[in-house]
Amino acid sequence: MQSILSYVEANHDRYLGELKDILAIPSVSTNPGNSSDIRRCAEWLSEHMRRIGLKNVQVFPTPGHPVVYADWLQAPGKPTLLLYGHYDVQPPEPLELWTSPPFEATIRDGRLYARGSADDKGQVFIHLKSIEAYLMNGGDLPINIKLLIEGEEEIGSEHLETFVKEHKDMLRADLVLISDSSMFAQGVPSICYGLRGLAYMQIDLTGPGKDLHSGSFGGTIHNPIQALSEIIAQLHDKNGKVAIPGFYKDVQALSKKERNAYKRLPWSDRKYAKELSVNALYGERGFTTLERVWARPTLECNGIWGGFTGEGAKTVLPSKASAKISMRLVPHQTAAKAAKLFEKHIRKLAPKTVKVTVRNLHGGEPAITPIDSPGVQAAVAALEKGFGKKPLYQREGGSIPIVVQFKQLLGLDTVLLGFGLPDENAHAPDEFINLDNFFGGIRTSVHFFNELPHFMKPLPTR
Ligand code: BES
Ligand code: MN
Ligand code: MN
Repeated sequence: MQSILSYVEANHDRYLGELKDILAIPSVSTNPGNSSDIRRCAEWLSEHMRRIGLKNVQVFPTPGHPVVYADWLQAPGKPTLLLYGHYDVQPPEPLELWTSPPFEATIRDGRLYARGSADDKGQVFIHLKSIEAYLMNGGDLPINIKLLIEGEEEIGSEHLETFVKEHKDMLRADLVLISDSSMFAQGVPSICYGLRGLAYMQIDLTGPGKDLHSGSFGGTIHNPIQALSEIIAQLHDKNGKVAIPGFYKDVQALSKKERNAYKRLPWSDRKYAKELSVNALYGERGFTTLERVWARPTLECNGIWGGFTGEGAKTVLPSKASAKISMRLVPHQTAAKAAKLFEKHIRKLAPKTVKVTVRNLHGGEPAITPIDSPGVQAAVAALEKGFGKKPLYQREGGSIPIVVQFKQLLGLDTVLLGFGLPDENAHAPDEFINLDNFFGGIRTSVHFFNELPHFMKPLPTR
C-alpha cells in the first residue's frame, strides 16, 4: 500500500500534465461541430488506458458518441467493480466570463481551472491514476475492474441504455462506482446516496405567421412572447410550489429521520445566499434549502427566447417565442409521467390566440442508493484514509440517468463517491477542481480498491 501511495506522490506533476492534455480536448457533446473532438477524446482515453496497463481497451461506436471500455480481470475470487464516468463536457460559453481559456487548464490558488476539470474528466482521471499506481508499479490490482466511460452524459445518455442492454455479459460486475458528484464542502468528504431525476421540455409558441410591424399590428394580436410569459408565470404558485396538477402525487415524503439528519449538517442560508450573490433565497415553502435541492422536485426555466434580441431597438411583433423548461424529480416520480403532466398542463394554459408545441427533449429517473451496502461501507473506510476524516451522508440535486438503469439492467447498486465541490462552477465559466481533492481522491481510490475485498465477496459467476 505504501509503495502505491508513494508512486502517486512521486508522480504528481506528470499526473497533472496528463490531466491538462485531456482537458485540452473540447469534447462538447451537445455541439455537432465538436464531433471530431469527441472522437479524439475517446481515442486519447483509450490510448491512455492501454498505457497504464488496462486490458481489452475498446472504443465502441454508438449511433451517438462512442463509449470507451477497458478492463483488468486478473484478480480471481475478488469482486468486480464497474467504474462509470463521462468524457463529454458542457459547452464553455460564455467564453468572456472565463478568467483563463476553458480548454487551457490553468492552476491558480491550488485549483485547476478548465471545462471538465470536475465534471467529469478530472474525476475519471482520479481513478485512472490510482489504477496506474497499482499496475505500473510492479503490482496487480486487488480487485477486478471494468471501466465504462461514455460521451453523452451531458445530453441525457441517449444511447447508453441500449449499449448496456447489448453488453450485459461484458459489463457483469458486483457493484458500480461513480465519481461525478461533489463533496459536501471543502474538507468535508461525503458519500452521496441520492440523485434527482430530470424531464427536459421545450415549448414553442407561434402567433402570427410572420414577424409584424409592432406599430401597425400591436394591440390586435396576442404577442407570443407575452403569451409564453403568461404561461411560465403560472407554473409556480405563491408558495413556490410547482403548479402542475398531479406533479407531487408520487413524491416520496422525507422521513423524519432524514429531515433530522439534514438539520445536523453544517449549513448557513445566509452564507449560501451571499456566495450566490442573491439578496434572498426562494423556494418551496415549508422546506429547508437542503431539502429543496436534494429531496424535493422542482421546475426551472433554462432558457427563453423570441423576437429581437440584438443591439439597439427594433419595433417588431414576433411570430414565435420558445422556452426550455426542466423538472428535477425525486423518488417515486418518473420522467415520462412528469413530461405528460407538463404537456397536458401547458395545453390547458395556452390561450387559443397562439399555436403551441410541447416536446420532451430527454429525461432520466431519480435514484436512491442503499447506504448500508458493502460498497458504501468500503467507500467510507477509503475516504477516512484518503482524507483523514469520516465522511457524511448527503444527497445531490443533479442527475445521472444511468444509475437507475444499472440497477434495472444489471442488478447493480452504485456507490457515488464525489470529489468535486458545491462551488466548482460545473456547467459554468471558471469550472475547477481543487488539487487537494484531486490527490485526496486518488488516495481514496487506491484505498477503495484495497478495502473492497474486505467488505464484499464476489457473486458466484453465473
Ligand atoms: N455530474 C453531473 C451530475 C451531478 C450534478 C451530480 C450535480 C451531482 C451534483 C452530470 O454531469 C450532469 O450534469 N448531469 C445532468 C444530467 C442531464 C443532462 C440528464 C444534469 O444533472 O443536469
Ligand atoms: Mn458529470
Ligand atoms: Mn454535468
